[in-house]
Amino acid sequence: MKPRVLVTRANFPEVLEFLRAHFEVEDNQADEALTPEVLRERLSDKDGVLTLPIDRVDTELLQACPRLKAVCNIAVGYNNIDVAACTAHGVMATNTPDVLTETTADFGMALMLAAARRMGEAERHLRAGLWQGWAIDQFLGMDVNGASLGIIGMGRIGQALARRARGFGMRIRYHNRRRVAEAIEKELQAEYADLDTLLAESDFVVLTLPYSPEAHHLIGAEQLARMKPTAVLVNLARGGVVDDAALAQALKAGKLYAAGLDVYEGEPVVHPGLLELENVVLMPHIASATRATRVRMSMTAARNLVAALGGEKPPHLLNPEVWDKRRT
Ligand code: GLV
Repeated sequence: MKPRVLVTRANFPEVLEFLRAHFEVEDNQADEALTPEVLRERLSDKDGVLTLPIDRVDTELLQACPRLKAVCNIAVGYNNIDVAACTAHGVMATNTPDVLTETTADFGMALMLAAARRMGEAERHLRAGLWQGWAIDQFLGMDVNGASLGIIGMGRIGQALARRARGFGMRIRYHNRRRVAEAIEKELQAEYADLDTLLAESDFVVLTLPYSPEAHHLIGAEQLARMKPTAVLVNLARGGVVDDAALAQALKAGKLYAAGLDVYEGEPVVHPGLLELENVVLMPHIASATRATRVRMSMTAARNLVAALGGEKPPHLLNPEVWDKRRT
């Protein structure tokens, strides 16, 4: 009998077709939102699952799903999955690195440009029928070209963003848990800086680090106060890395020029203080959202699942301890 798997939410037909060649698949093409209780129930007789960042995998769920062997997240970030709990239950967890790097970095540039050049605000003005024609001082913004960029989190996406920023003639500083290889620093002409220096010196600060408890509110009132009042903050990372309430206050008080956000604390709810501001571009967590990339992410997760349930080590295994245990 084929292993049984669940795809928690709607996905592309070609991905489901690929999965059906290997598994008995329960899909959710109606894209019904699943409460934790419903997710537990649907997963209780499954061997594997393809999850999204909105699906929470925790001890309670794992306890209710004794057959489960693999949780394959369709995302590079995996803070929705309690990996330690998966390990404790002997469940493999995987993510989808690499395939979304360039698409996400494109979006980072888009958010920097949109926030600095007031594109959301200007478009709202035009659509409201308020535009009366060209004016010398209309929607004056900030230059991205030639500005200084501080990247917090110099992994794959941070580096891809730095490559693009070089094309805009930006001066690049970065902060990371560890310095990256000298060859990468040279290639990107990126200078390592401590967090406070980066915040104080950058015209643009972009967050591309993974979420972790240590990164919670990495950017709060104190850090925002260190930034230039002319600076732009972009959050491409995860909700919770920025204290959204403090950010709304800083933006409202003019302590920060603008922000571009793709992620929020408590998604899909957005802090009401942000919703009322003109100087913030608010995107609904779509940095990796091109069809090509979302198909690649889904296929990567599907291949991880096929490997995991087929007795092979999944390419993007987050808890190799589980695999090592199986082999001994
Ligand atoms: C999306 O946010 C991802 O982590 O891939």
